[in-house]
Amino acid sequence: MSGALWHGFADMGAVQRDGAFVVSRGEGAYIWDDAGTRYLDATAGLWFTNVGHGRTEIADAVAAQLSKVAHFSNFGDFTSDTTVALAERLGAIAPVPGSKVFFTSGGSDSVDSAAKLARRYWNEMGRPGKKLIVGRQKAYHGMHVAGTALAGIPVNREGYGELMPDARTVGWDDAKSLLELIEREGADAIAAFFCEPIIGAGGIYLPPEGYLTEVRDICREHDILFVVDEVVTGFGRIGGSWFASTRFGLEPDMITTAKGLTSGYVPMGAVFVAPAVAEPFFGGGVWWRHGYTYGGHAGAAAAAMANLDIVERENLLAESKRLESSLHEHLAPLAEHPRVAEVRSGLGAVAAVQLVDPAEALPFVKTLRAHGVSGRAAGQGAMQFSPSFVMTDEQVAEMAAGVRAALG
Ligand SMILES: Cc1ncc(COP(=O)(O)O)c(C=O)c1O
Repeated sequence: MSGALWHGFADMGAVQRDGAFVVSRGEGAYIWDDAGTRYLDATAGLWFTNVGHGRTEIADAVAAQLSKVAHFSNFGDFTSDTTVALAERLGAIAPVPGSKVFFTSGGSDSVDSAAKLARRYWNEMGRPGKKLIVGRQKAYHGMHVAGTALAGIPVNREGYGELMPDARTVGWDDAKSLLELIEREGADAIAAFFCEPIIGAGGIYLPPEGYLTEVRDICREHDILFVVDEVVTGFGRIGGSWFASTRFGLEPDMITTAKGLTSGYVPMGAVFVAPAVAEPFFGGGVWWRHGYTYGGHAGAAAAAMANLDIVERENLLAESKRLESSLHEHLAPLAEHPRVAEVRSGLGAVAAVQLVDPAEALPFVKTLRAHGVSGRAAGQGAMQFSPSFVMTDEQVAEMAAGVRAALG
């Protein structure tokens, strides 16, 4: 029995029967369980520990901030000096110059904030009929109501009744299906299209060549806000750039982020809003009645500042690009194994080893642990690889050897 704790995304009967995997320490690309056994962390937690575990520099920055003032408020005219400094720093690396930064407590907050803002924006522009929010099959956009409704993983929507009637789904890799939806519903009914540059939790699917700019152009042509969900890809995971939007020149109307902003040391998210979308709210006399108690939390902002310092000082964007090649080099050969259907890799510090039989994925996670690798299943039987940017090529090779051994 694992006691009072109710885990997310879990069959708690199974967790209670088999026991929890309790992580008690981390350093760099390694974690240790409560029995003292060491594992390579193949996933950087839930895709977030970009700078690696055990960074006392971030802990110290948070401690210093909490001792000064932990947080106060980010509503109305309140904020903190550290929050302002972080917003300026993010503004300077934003893919769209002049962007405004709206802080949240995590990725789901960022997504639902962007969905609400898209609709409010069109309302301010005198087009209140533009309400539909469009997502893609396989997409994951967090677990708040709008994000769950607009994502493309139907099983996550089951059992609640209709969460948001104004959500629509199109093909994940097919720009034509977006055009067909626009023809069917009318551009005057559509507020925004949400798009992960690399589909993450839905199984790690890389965008087809040219897809991202194609859907961006379709959105522009039809006055539909183009929202890029960079909760996973932001802050370096795309490889070589701060954002996938920078790497692909997407210039989105909004970008949703979290995870890598603080490397998950404390929770924080942010929505980047392009000047044209922010403008109606900055002219005076218009309120956006939206915000979170912990939005712009000063302690979280201090963690983000220290995290970004590390990324810059240690050239971790370049390290992430190195991992793009290294993961591909070491994992792609596993595609020949009879239990593996395909390996998806070669863009960003992410990869998937797709098992032939999706039912094998959960037991495989446990077998993999026995070979010294902490992994995770995503989508329909894909093994997720998204290590911290400090994982060395030797450790990638060791991780791939662990996967091969676990495959048998
Ligand atoms: C693309 C994407 N959007 C949103 C979220 C939700 O973020 P959070 O779990 O921090 O609420 C996630 C989480 O994995 C994600 O991958």
